[in-house]
Amino acid sequence: MPVEPSAPPPVRVLGIESSCDETAASVVENGRVILSGVVASQAELHARFGGVFPEVASRQHILNFYPVVEMALSQAHLDLKDVDAIAVTRGPGLPGSLVVGINIAKGLCLGSGLPLVGVNHLEAHLYSAWLYPAGEEAIPEPQFPLLALIVSGGHTELVLMETHLAYRHLGATLDDAAGEAFDKVARLIGLDYPGGPSIQRAAEGGNPRAFDFPRAWLEGRWDFSFSGLKTAVLRTVRRLETSGGALPVGDLAASFQEAVVDVLVGKTLQAAQEFDARSVLVAGGVSANRALRQAIQARAECPVHIPPISLCTDNAAMTAGAGHFRFLHGQRGGLDMDVLPNWPFSEL
Ligand code: KG4
Ligand code: ZN
Repeated sequence: MPVEPSAPPPVRVLGIESSCDETAASVVENGRVILSGVVASQAELHARFGGVFPEVASRQHILNFYPVVEMALSQAHLDLKDVDAIAVTRGPGLPGSLVVGINIAKGLCLGSGLPLVGVNHLEAHLYSAWLYPAGEEAIPEPQFPLLALIVSGGHTELVLMETHLAYRHLGATLDDAAGEAFDKVARLIGLDYPGGPSIQRAAEGGNPRAFDFPRAWLEGRWDFSFSGLKTAVLRTVRRLETSGGALPVGDLAASFQEAVVDVLVGKTLQAAQEFDARSVLVAGGVSANRALRQAIQARAECPVHIPPISLCTDNAAMTAGAGHFRFLHGQRGGLDMDVLPNWPFSEL
């Protein structure tokens, strides 16, 4: 009787993420299937400061981590011994927050004998596009070469991904990150932190053509700049305030959002064409923005991959996903592995 070849055993990675203000743990199988995902958000805690307060964030990570990791394992119906590796965010991010996560991961590795894999948070955002929940049909894999836009609170990066873990870094923001611009402009027009979701909500009732805010195209290069736009909003707000009356918050939010989306979509699709990309990927917190998602889907000539909203903002499934590919590639960290708070994408 012929012997059926048996499928290779699944590879399971426990991801640990604490680069900013979310404490997260997740178990992912074969770099794609989310067996569990737990995120303890601190957004409410930081809202009264109008941004993330680093010391408060690290202390809260210490309080949150053990229950978060335990929940991630129990939701996956697994013990640590059923996992093959632990992947943890080394950077970029807030130093104190990263230190908590990396020490939790090292402690778990020391106790269990599991290998430790250090992950770049921006690379993790990219790998969120490969993930889907256990029990659901597999989503199509992004095809290489792919043109990726990573837009988060601290970063705006344009990257050509030739295959797994192989990148050509094309450009980045020269000043504010896209998410940072959303957060700063939200504060200028009196909206709550985090600014991205607040601006999106306010923009729904506004006219995106009410104000003609500038777009920095930086012709001939793949970089971005948002500080001029932020200053233009500031000047407009000052002018409106001196002339009296209530600020047209919806119109300001919608016009600002449209200016950001125009540049992000325009540059990404121009690069996709220039480098003959077979797919486009948008990831990071700002990729949760509805106007951005709609505009890029409508204008792209190749398939566009944008993770579901729950995987756009910080989570540990993406850390486990990127960690899986790094683990298969043979990457291992020792117990002396340190955080890299300024780890640039261009060094990957
Ligand atoms: O990736 P992320 O969760 O954390 C970092 O690694 O920075 O991104 C957070 C950023 C914040 O600046 C937040 O305002 C922005 O993502 N963001 C949004 C939206 N949701 C979150 N920006 C625009 N529209 C949204 N819906
Ligand atoms: Zn992030």
